[in-house]
Amino acid sequence: MQEETINTNKFTSVLLDVKNEVLAQIVDASSITELEELRIAYLGRNGKVTNLIKNIKNLPKNEKKRVGSLINEVKNTILNALATQKNSFKESARDWFDASIPGEKPIVGRLHLVTQAIREISNTFEKIGFTRVRYPEVEWDWYAFESLNIPKNHPARDDWETFFIDTPPHARYGLMALTPHTSSGQVREMMRVKEPPIRMLNIAKNYRRQSDISHVPMFHQFEGLVIDEGISIIHLKGTLDYFARNFFGKDRKTRLRPHHFQFTEPSFEVDISCGVCNGKGCRLCKEGWLELGGAGMVHPTVLKNGKINPNKYSGFAFGWGVERTFMMKAGLEIGDIRLLYSTGLKFLRQF
Ligand code: DAH
Repeated sequence: MQEETINTNKFTSVLLDVKNEVLAQIVDASSITELEELRIAYLGRNGKVTNLIKNIKNLPKNEKKRVGSLINEVKNTILNALATQKNSFKESARDWFDASIPGEKPIVGRLHLVTQAIREISNTFEKIGFTRVRYPEVEWDWYAFESLNIPKNHPARDDWETFFIDTPPHARYGLMALTPHTSSGQVREMMRVKEPPIRMLNIAKNYRRQSDISHVPMFHQFEGLVIDEGISIIHLKGTLDYFARNFFGKDRKTRLRPHHFQFTEPSFEVDISCGVCNGKGCRLCKEGWLELGGAGMVHPTVLKNGKINPNKYSGFAFGWGVERTFMMKAGLEIGDIRLLYSTGLKFLRQF
């Protein structure tokens, strides 16, 4: 004998009618008792929805799964509506105050660790007379490269994987780009101040086409620029040591290693003694030193581009990553730097 089947469409339409019917009543209910009565009338042992569920067995076999999940959805919607309405009654019933119940602690927010780092770096340099500035994030090629002695076809340009903006080039300043480093503020600052002394600290967002566990396409750098009469490498070294002591800790030292940048001559990589092993060598630093970033004496061509007389003035510059510097201070090895810009509060709340 063939099993008796019922029409699925009809079944679902009855189910949805029942759902709408109970939801309307939940909204109209005016007491918790009424809500409980509704729950029993629809979801109780003999409730309207429960009785429909009993009918599932009479549906065509291939439809049972779909209708089953629809029924679950309806059940959950009803339960949620009951709970919401119940809570709203509780809220309004709370017109007395029980002082013995422990208070609810509000969640205390905190600054993002990059913001903390930027503030601390600014404070450290402001104490020795640096002025914090900020220059355009969308910058002309000329300020970002050409004025820094890095012409268009120079292979050094490959070090900056730049995002260019799709606009017609300017006759003098070239294309526009998302600024790939804070060095683009150097010539701008020279033109702003006009006559040295200059003590600039440019902290800004930078953009490069890179994304992996140690790179993000948007990151921060801080750039120092000092120009005056008689500025030498000694001033550079003294400033770096001051920063190392004050930002990282009084026992930390810096070391300059020869390097090459187009816009400085001579150029250096700056290392800082490792805070974990105090320069002896450990798992984090290997040989006692950690690499911070670039620095050097401002190239005469760059001074000329900033309309500053290189026969009268000289200067030094340095440019480092904020994220990297901060991680070094904390002695942190963050497995994936992209976490810094994730919305993962569990990670961010550690700092
Ligand atoms: N702008 C360089 C970069 O993004 C870093 C840098 C190197 C900045 C040497 C400087 C400097 O001011 O003197 O890789």
